[in-house]
Amino acid sequence: MYSALYKYVIHGGKPLFGEIEISGAKNAAVGILPAALMVDGVCRIENVPQISDVTLSLDILSALGAEVRLVNKNTVEIDSRHIRNFTVPDDLCRKMRASYYLIGALLGRFGRAQVSMPGGCNLGVRPIDLHIKGFEKLGATVDVMGGFVYATAPESGLRGSTIYMDQVSVGATMNVMMAAAMAKGLTVIENAAKEPHIVDLANFLNTMGAHIMGAGTDVIKVRGVERLHGGTYSIIPDQIEAGTYMACVAAAGGNVLIKNVIPKHMDCITSKLEEMGVEIREDGDNIRVIRKHHLRRTNVKTMPYPGFPTDMQPQITACLALARGTSMVNEGIWDNRYRYVDEFKRMGARIQVDGKVAVVEGVERLSGAPLRACDLRAGAAMVVAGLAAKGTTEIGEIHYIERGYDDLVGKLRGVGAEITLIACPDDDANSASSAG
Ligand code: EPZ
Repeated sequence: MYSALYKYVIHGGKPLFGEIEISGAKNAAVGILPAALMVDGVCRIENVPQISDVTLSLDILSALGAEVRLVNKNTVEIDSRHIRNFTVPDDLCRKMRASYYLIGALLGRFGRAQVSMPGGCNLGVRPIDLHIKGFEKLGATVDVMGGFVYATAPESGLRGSTIYMDQVSVGATMNVMMAAAMAKGLTVIENAAKEPHIVDLANFLNTMGAHIMGAGTDVIKVRGVERLHGGTYSIIPDQIEAGTYMACVAAAGGNVLIKNVIPKHMDCITSKLEEMGVEIREDGDNIRVIRKHHLRRTNVKTMPYPGFPTDMQPQITACLALARGTSMVNEGIWDNRYRYVDEFKRMGARIQVDGKVAVVEGVERLSGAPLRACDLRAGAAMVVAGLAAKGTTEIGEIHYIERGYDDLVGKLRGVGAEITLIACPDDDANSASSAG
C-alpha cells in the first residue's frame, strides 16, 4: 500500500486489449471480516482483496484479540475464540467508514461494543441513525458520547423484532443482520437493502450456522442462533471494480475480457454502457467489453441496487464527458459526490453541477492534467479519464484509490495501459492540483 508519497502517472489516449481478473468485493469483505468476530471457531475466508481497507479491518480484528493468519495473499484465517476486548481502537476506526460493522458484530456476540464514530470518504452527511434505531429495536441501549458509540444489550440478551428501515441503507441492513444473527427469536428487516454484498454477508453468516432468509429481497428474516461455528467462505467478485474496468474500456476504447464476475450483478452497469454504444458480451463468469465507435450520450440516476450504483457515478461521468451530446447525471444517494468535477474540468471536461444533478456536455477529447484524488471512486474516475485523455495525467492522493482497488496498476498495465506508480516528494503530491 502506498501513501501520499506516490502518484499514478498515466500516458493516455491508447485503447486497451487483453484480460483483467476481478478481485473479491471490498464492500462484502469489510462486512464479512468484522462478522468473523461473531464466530466461536476458526473462519477461513477466501478471495479477500488486497486493499488497504482490508488491511485496516484485519488490524482492528487483531487489536481486539482475534488471531489473524494470512494463508496466502487472498486467504485469511480468523480465530475469534478468545476475544476479551470490546473497545475498538479509535485511530484505526476513524480511517474507515465500515468500522461501524464492529458495533453489530460485537453487540451480537458479546452484548457490548465501544466503537468510535466511523470515518471514510467524504460524500456528504453520513449519519448512522438507522443502525442505532435497529439496535435499539433489538433491545440494546445505544449512547453516542464524546465521539464514541456505546452499545449494550440487556442482561437477558438481544431480542428479535420487526425493524422497518425508513431509508434503504446498505450499512444499517448489514449491521442489524449481524446483531440479529444471535438475538433470541425472529427479526424481520423490512425495506432492506438488496446489494450483492448484503447477500454475501448473509451467505457467510449462514455458512457459519446462522439462519438468515430473504437476503437480496427487501424483507430479510433472521432467526437467532446461540452460537456460530467455524467454516470456509469465499467472497464474491467486486461489482464496482469490474464496472470501473468496463468504464476504462468504454472511455479509452479497445477490447477487454473482464474475468471472474457475476454477470447478473453487472446488469445495471452493462445496460447503461450498451446505451452508450459499448458492445458487451457475457460468457459464463466473464464479460467482454468492446468499444470501437464514439460514445453516445445518456442519462444516469443512481439508486439502491438493482438501480445504477452510486459507487459507479464518477466513473460513468468520466465516460459521459467524452460522449456525443449532453447527458444528465442525477445522484440519488449522496449529497456531495461531485467533488471530482473540478478536477475533470482541468482536463477540459464540460460539466455543470447543480445540487445533485450534473449536466455533462461531451467533448471530443480530454487532455492530461495533474489531478488529486478526493475520494475512492472519484480517484478511480480520474484513472478512467486519464486513460482516455491525450497526454499525461498525474494523480496524487492515491491512498484513496488503494482503499478499494487491488493491484490497479498491474491490472491496467496487463491490458496495455501506460500507467506507472511513481514516488514523488510529499510537496509534489500535495500540490498536484492546488491551483484553481
Ligand atoms: C455503503 O455505504 C458503501 N460502503 C458505499 O460505498 C456506498 O456508496 C453506499 O453503501 C450506497 O451503496 C460500504 O459498503 C462500506 P448507506 P453506507 O447506509 O452503508 C442514508 C464506496 O465507494 N443513511 O446505504 O454508509 C445515507 O446518508 C463506498 O465503496 C441515513 O440517513 O451507505 C445515504 O444517503 C462509498 N441514516 C443513504 O442512507 C443511516 O443510518 C444510503 O447510505 C444510514 C444511511
